[in-house]
Amino acid sequence: MATRENPHELVELAREYYVSGFGRGPEFFEKPGSIVASVHGNYFTDIFGRQLFDTESCASAAYLGFGLPEVMQALREEMERVPSTTPLFVPTAPLLRLAEKLASITPGSLKYSVFAANGTDATEGAVKIARQYWKARGKGGKFKVLHRIPGDYHGMSLAMVSASGHTFRRAPYEPLMGGFVAFNAPYCYRCPYEHSLPGCRLLCARDLERVIQFEGPDSIACVITENTNTGLGIVTPPPGYMPLVRDICTRYDVLLIADEIITGIAKTGAWFESGKQGIVPDMLCIGKAISAGCGALAATHVTEEIGQVLAESGNLHHGFTYGGLGYLAAAGLAGIAYVERHGLLQRALDIERYMGNRMETLKSRSRIVGDVRMSGVLQGIELVKDRQTKSRFEDPRAVAAFIGDVGREHDVLLSCQFPHYGNIITMYLPLTSTDKELGKVCDAIEDAVRRVETAYA
Ligand SMILES: Cc1ncc(COP(=O)(O)O)c(C=O)c1O
Repeated sequence: MATRENPHELVELAREYYVSGFGRGPEFFEKPGSIVASVHGNYFTDIFGRQLFDTESCASAAYLGFGLPEVMQALREEMERVPSTTPLFVPTAPLLRLAEKLASITPGSLKYSVFAANGTDATEGAVKIARQYWKARGKGGKFKVLHRIPGDYHGMSLAMVSASGHTFRRAPYEPLMGGFVAFNAPYCYRCPYEHSLPGCRLLCARDLERVIQFEGPDSIACVITENTNTGLGIVTPPPGYMPLVRDICTRYDVLLIADEIITGIAKTGAWFESGKQGIVPDMLCIGKAISAGCGALAATHVTEEIGQVLAESGNLHHGFTYGGLGYLAAAGLAGIAYVERHGLLQRALDIERYMGNRMETLKSRSRIVGDVRMSGVLQGIELVKDRQTKSRFEDPRAVAAFIGDVGREHDVLLSCQFPHYGNIITMYLPLTSTDKELGKVCDAIEDAVRRVETAYA
């Protein structure tokens, strides 16, 4: 459905009054798909009437596409019943049902939910809880936060920017907060130690132990990490990496926070990627899909033990006026029920297989596909100028814009989210994607790769 507004006026309004994040300049608004008029299914329609398939599902929040009737009905009904709440003080029934559901689908002894609005509130909440937990246990000297570089992104607040592995997101806001210490993230395609599996014996994970020993375990509250490093273009952890990180944290009495804001809820073929990796973190941060893409809802999910220590130690001072809206919880629950009813955990793996086959074939035929990485519907295709040397393109921004434009010719939004790290086509495909839609995405990528090869390599 197109808008009744004059699209050219809207472009002017955006230029005149709207501050766009994520490095987008004023020229962005003229491109197809830049200002949305309506959304439906796996598509949105822009103000010029163009319908596009978004390979990022709105930053992975709309993991079931848009406007599923079951989700919309649950949302509407609860919104009419309780149109506004301050859940900081009083929860509603759907929020409690969602807390119960999360306890049943998260791994191990994870049990209690601290609800918040955005993912950033949930990750920052986890760090606050870690510090409060150690104080309550008489170990107030444990305050440092270890985080991975490069990549891992945990949100936009100053504390989470301090925990960020994105130099470009840190530099403008320096000086950052004290007490945050970085360690190397795994990246087998470009190993920071210039080593390889299996000979490396997971040096990247073992190096965490060195950092902990150097900093002093008595000063460290927690490690915060993604499983798959989505902030580096879907870098999946090498086999055994997450269990070793878990083991090191346990041995040194350091809490492990898994940031599953993107990876959480069915997208990797498991309810949570921590479960898929065989670990139980002490805290697990959930956002985006938790409301089935209907609005700002997130949770810091903690183990029974942490929940009890917090309860005994008095108040947790972490909550937001709109952090836990019941109608968003109702939508999220309807989304989870839809996943269960339609077997979408399996569908995530089928989508991985379909895309994997096409992308590996492309890699075998192309000079510039360096690496293909997938965890369910989360997928990264790393392009390089020269596969031998793995050198990146001279002007990754130009290549990223070019790929985006070729995608638009196919009515597919393709994104190289982080040109700072070269050209990695990054996708969070909806679980509701049909094979026909996946085929269309693959056609767009193949065309883009072929034309980048001619124009830039
Ligand atoms: C891994 C990860 N953590 C945290 C966040 C922050 O979530 P939000 O944008 O809802 O604050 C994001 C957002 O993209 C994310 O991808």
